[in-house]
Amino acid sequence: MARFLHISDLHFTDQQDAGLVARGMTWTSRDVLAGLAASVDLQAFDFVAVTGDLVNNGTTPDYVALREALDETFPADMPRVMVLGNHDDKAAFRAGYLGEDASDAPYREVSEIDGLRLVTLDTSVSYQHGGIVDADHVDWLADVLATRAQNGTLLFGHHPFGISWKPQLEKAETHPRLAEVLAASDVRAIFNGHLHMPVASMAFDIPQFTAAPLSFGILRNGEQLWDTDRLGYSSVEVTPDGVSVQPEILHPRVHIIGPNDMWEEYENQAQLWAQQKGRS
Ligand SMILES: [Fe+2]
Repeated sequence: MARFLHISDLHFTDQQDAGLVARGMTWTSRDVLAGLAASVDLQAFDFVAVTGDLVNNGTTPDYVALREALDETFPADMPRVMVLGNHDDKAAFRAGYLGEDASDAPYREVSEIDGLRLVTLDTSVSYQHGGIVDADHVDWLADVLATRAQNGTLLFGHHPFGISWKPQLEKAETHPRLAEVLAASDVRAIFNGHLHMPVASMAFDIPQFTAAPLSFGILRNGEQLWDTDRLGYSSVEVTPDGVSVQPEILHPRVHIIGPNDMWEEYENQAQLWAQQKGRS
């Protein structure tokens, strides 16, 4: 039915950012996008979803540069589902990326691909690390989800619901009515980022998939969090029967060993076993 690429947390900077270099990000945002284009058959996807922290510093020139970089990376006819995160600036995004009048209103979108409805929620709050889904967001969402889409809905945001790097750390603040709105809806899966690590979880009884980042990774080992060079993305397939999310590692580089012909081997092995059994 639909295949899409889920990428997140680009933290794009036009010029290398000293703060990110100090955290070990010695590669540039353009290096990462070039690496992605070289590793993935982009033509195989119907759209790409970018779940926030599009840029690192929220400046208009960085959004202009991001648009150019994404235009160079992805096929011109591939729709992009863009989500804002806590590093994003709503007004600068509108001016620099969309070429629209600057406005601080939440950036929320609804689109549809082959009967599959794609809804983006703007959980970001300017100058705050944490996310929020307040009464205004819930009202908007309830309105959008009041009708059902032919093949259901996917919900995109930046901050995961109910989980964080560690249970005791700050989570997205959600209005109590969000649970009932989602329970009555046709939302089949939730996609987001923010954590800089790939996580599969449940939120409001709906599967929730948090993508690996395309900037710098975070690894949890016991109670300690570590910055890492683990970058990745997810390849998602949505069929009438289900939603399949395949997390992939982009860096450190995965080496291709050779073609996988195990099915042929299995068939040969099965025939051999059948022959041996027939003889005994
Ligand atoms: Fe981020």
